[in-house]
Amino acid sequence: MKIFVLITLCFFFFFGLSLYRVSSEIPDRELGHASLPPRGWNSYDSFCWTISEEEFLQSAEIISQRLRPHGYEYVVVDYLWYRRKVKGAYVDSLGFDVIDEWGRMIPDPGRWPSSIGGKGFTEVAKKVHGMGLKFGIHVMRGISTQAFNANTPILDSLKGGVYEESGRQWRAKDIGLKEKACAWMPHGFMSVNTKLGAGRAFLRSLYKQYAEWGVDFVKHDCVFGDDLDIDEITFVSEVLKELDRPILYSLSPGTSVTPAMAKEISALVNMYRITGDDWDTWGDVVAHFNVSRDFSTANMIGTKGLQGKSWPDLDMLPLGWLTDQGLNEGPHRTCKLSLDEQRTQMTLWAMAKSPLMFGGDFPYITGIKGTNKKSKVISPNLSEVGTSDTHVLGLTTCKDSKANGWSIEALDQDLEQICWKEKLGNRFEEPFCFYKRKTLLTADEETIYNQRYQGQLHLLAGEGMEFCLNASPKRKLTSKESKRGSLSPCKRDANQMWDLNTSGALVNSYSGLCAIANSVEAKVDSGGIRSWIATGRRGELYVAFFNLNTEKTVISTNISSLAKALPGKNLNRASCKCREVWSGKDYGVIKQSISTTVETHGCALFVLNC
Ligand SMILES: *[C@@H]1O[C@H](CO)[C@@H](O)[C@H](O)[C@H]1NC(C)=O
Ligand SMILES: *[C@@H]1O[C@H](CO)[C@@H](O)[C@H](O)[C@H]1NC(C)=O
Ligand SMILES: *[C@@H]1O[C@H](CO)[C@@H](O)[C@H](O)[C@H]1NC(C)=O
Ligand SMILES: *[C@@H]1O[C@H](CO)[C@@H](O)[C@H](O)[C@H]1NC(C)=O
Repeated sequence: MKIFVLITLCFFFFFGLSLYRVSSEIPDRELGHASLPPRGWNSYDSFCWTISEEEFLQSAEIISQRLRPHGYEYVVVDYLWYRRKVKGAYVDSLGFDVIDEWGRMIPDPGRWPSSIGGKGFTEVAKKVHGMGLKFGIHVMRGISTQAFNANTPILDSLKGGVYEESGRQWRAKDIGLKEKACAWMPHGFMSVNTKLGAGRAFLRSLYKQYAEWGVDFVKHDCVFGDDLDIDEITFVSEVLKELDRPILYSLSPGTSVTPAMAKEISALVNMYRITGDDWDTWGDVVAHFNVSRDFSTANMIGTKGLQGKSWPDLDMLPLGWLTDQGLNEGPHRTCKLSLDEQRTQMTLWAMAKSPLMFGGDFPYITGIKGTNKKSKVISPNLSEVGTSDTHVLGLTTCKDSKANGWSIEALDQDLEQICWKEKLGNRFEEPFCFYKRKTLLTADEETIYNQRYQGQLHLLAGEGMEFCLNASPKRKLTSKESKRGSLSPCKRDANQMWDLNTSGALVNSYSGLCAIANSVEAKVDSGGIRSWIATGRRGELYVAFFNLNTEKTVISTNISSLAKALPGKNLNRASCKCREVWSGKDYGVIKQSISTTVETHGCALFVLNC
């Protein structure tokens, strides 16, 4: 296993925990199944399908040591644990699976040596339980094409022996629905006909075996969203209810799922995906905002589920050390999200009370602390509660004395910032700044560049970000026009070159106009800003500001807006103490409003005790 440390992860997990009021002190059976959004680790984002027993148990050991004290309890083997890892085998290959005489999938003994001798996952589950964790597996819809082609007999797990009905023995070809193959793995699996006793007997034989192995969690794939198979979900849910062993029931993925579709199944399961697969791109993070809001508005978070509760699931967290979708390979690269984007993802998942399944590989995590206390989970209100001020860059004639408002400041030896000196209205707590970009040019390029743009600067939106301040997209601006400052990918273009002179004028090299900063209040529903509230342990409030824009933005809310989003809750306005979680900054007692500058793609999370 490769060594990769992401210090911030500890904070992430601790944070996820405190927002959820983890209750390891209360046994599940008192509260029911999945009384809180389930948390744990899943092998998919870091190993795709290729994980071995040794790698899995190593990961489980780390979860047990580092995250179990904070409520992370499930370790889940994702798909194709039955596929032999040999040349020619890949996600949609046919004929490489290990199946038993009844057409059921069994672990590939090459990757899962403890399964030899018909033991399935028994030994792995035992070891996982010995670590104080719960064991989960991924399963596909219906029956495998391999079992169908082999026309294996159906096991009657109630009576023993081959399933007989109407005076005959039933086989795989009697129950498999070839026309209902899994759309994204068409060679792998197909639905079974649950209207037939034999179809139901086959499904029962699978889940009874999982329970015998000691499985605590099944992630049932290709039955929901675009692949909906309501009959199979309904029957599997019934089987799980009959079993002695409580098994948590999870559905995946959830492409195109709406609250209306989810209402049909939420009481049958414990968690269900509400999006397609999430990977480590900003677009994937953004795609989870509206759907979270919609499920919150529809009151679907933490409703009644299978023998307990049911949770909309935003998918695994692809943070840390990862592989790529569909690859025959384990972890080999780090997460592509910036630190701000990772925080945004973690904050969004926690605000929406999604299950938290870490997807990356992480041999060790350090420094987690915190305590677990019981508390009830209240549905968050993900309606917008804030407003935003967008920093806007205007251009004006350099004769305007107001333009001399910029100053340069060295943050360290390599990093300089150019900031607008004046605070922009009351809302602005922090100045409006850009970072000076380092030149990343070859020696040749540098000579030409230096001649043309001597002493001039590229200005970045954020440290390390490749978005440059752009004065004019296309046309020449006249001194009369004032244009919203824009950021666009950095290029060598006169519109993006700036000169800061000793009077504090920031002169654009294309137009000769000077930059000036303004603020504009925007209504918080434009999709660029999200501002949400959730209630937590002992009634404290969590207020999250998310900035989806490519510009730094000041986001604000006031006590009246918060009170409106929490009907029936009495906010003691005289003493709302406020702290921001990620920075640790203490905002003291809030009388009227909370306001802060949020980085591009970043977030702020306030904890209020009112
Ligand atoms: C999210 O919803 C808002 C308003 O309901 C809409 O304006 C916006 O376009 C949506 N965003 C996406 C990415 O669909
Ligand atoms: C800075 O630039 C502005 C605009 O070109 C000019 O009016 C001003 O005199 C310059 N100040 C100095 C000290 O060069
Ligand atoms: C709070 O914010 C709302 C929405 O922006 C606004 O209508 C209201 O006047 C503000 N109230 C106070 C007391 O500032
Ligand atoms: C959520 O907040 C909005 C205002 O922001 C309010 O109108 C609505 O009633 C709240 N919903 C719930 C379920 O509390």
